[in-house]
Order: sequence, then C-alpha cells, then structure tokens
Amino acid sequence: MTDIHVAVDAYLEENLLKTDPILDEIARESEAAGLVPHAVTPLQAEFLALLIKLCGAKRVLEIGCLGGYSAVAMARALPEDGQLITTEIDTRTAKIAQQNIDGSGFGDRIDLRVGPAMDVLDTEISQGGSFDFVFIDADKVNHKNYLERALKLTRPGGVIVADNVVRGGAVIEADSQENSIKGVRAMMAYAATLTGVDMTALQTVGAKGYDGMAIFRVS
Ligand code: DHB
Ligand code: MG
Repeated sequence: MTDIHVAVDAYLEENLLKTDPILDEIARESEAAGLVPHAVTPLQAEFLALLIKLCGAKRVLEIGCLGGYSAVAMARALPEDGQLITTEIDTRTAKIAQQNIDGSGFGDRIDLRVGPAMDVLDTEISQGGSFDFVFIDADKVNHKNYLERALKLTRPGGVIVADNVVRGGAVIEADSQENSIKGVRAMMAYAATLTGVDMTALQTVGAKGYDGMAIFRVS
C-alpha cells in the first residue's frame, strides 16, 4: 500500500460515497474489539452492493463474516424481503458481528451462522439451498473448496465474488509454501477447469493494500 492509493481512495470516497454512519460504526466497533482489519473498504463494500443490485439478487450468501461490515453493506442492497446468510467460525468474532448486525437496523435480513463455513455450505447444499449472489471472503486456505460449493449453490445467472485473489502479488509464486497462497492458487487452477462460467478478476489497490477480486457468473 502506498500513500497515493490511500489518498485516491479518500478522494473517491469523498466524491462517490454518501456519509455512512452505519458502516462507520461497524468499522469502529470492529477495531475497538480488536478484530483483524480485513474487512472490505467502503468503496469495495459499495461495489458489492452495486453488483447485488445489478443482478437483482434476493438471496445472498457470504462466506466469512468477520465484524459484519460487508454483510450489512450487502444486506442493505437487497429488497426488503431479501435474505443474507453469513458464516463466522470464531465465536468471539461472531458475537461482535451479531452486535454490529443488530445495531445496523438490517438484522432481520441477516442470518449469521456460527461455525465452519464448510459445514454451513454442505448443509445448504444438502437442503437444496439456492443463492443469487455469493461473496467468498473467509480463510484463503479453503478458497477452492468454497468456490466449488458456491458454484453448486448459485442459480444460473447468479454471481460469485471471491476476495483476496492477488495477495500483494504473491498469488503468482508457484512454489509458495504459504497455505493461503496455496489455497488461492488451488482456486485459480480449479477455475481454469471450469466451463460455462463467465469469469474475470480485477486487481485492486486502495486503503487496504494490493489485492484482487475474482468474479464468476454461473450459466
Ligand atoms: C486477509 C483476509 C482478507 O479477507 C482480506 O480482505 C485481507 C487480508 C488476511 O487473512 O490476511
Ligand atoms: Mg477479504
């Protein structure tokens, strides 16, 4: 991350985003609780919200809740009868997220499931769950496993976004011994085998450093 990326993020936020007491409060509470600073940026949150509106999503699945920042940003973009399921493995983090969600005013649209994302996904698959939009943002070790399951859970025409697919450029290190890099590379290798899926990735810079999002449209 460089100063210019931070400054440009601030400039874009100032011009394109409205003041956002709800998300600002979640960011503050998450920081005060000592959660890792890995939530999406305000501009990225709005990007996710825009995608949700563009594809007319009503049912959203988030894999990896953290403090609830992106969950609230996405739930807010849904129609009133929309539903968002999100997962959090860490019980303390989930407690903070639930407080943030309850305080946001959008708690009635958000179903926070505490436990390993893989269990939630497998349960949803066994129950015939179907989603219009999936955001994958949990541990990167399981990125491929999450994408595999997300593809089963996304209806034709639905969209999947996977966060953190660039990792400061480390994704291209083929012999990386870091498990998160191995996980992202496994996801990319799996993506390379897919047919009938429109997909791309965008490298991102900004206040949260250099990373990227992959985007998939299931047909
Ligand atoms: C990490 C995780 C994230 O979801 C993110 O957006 C940035 C960093 C991490 O685990 O390092
Ligand atoms: Mg992320």
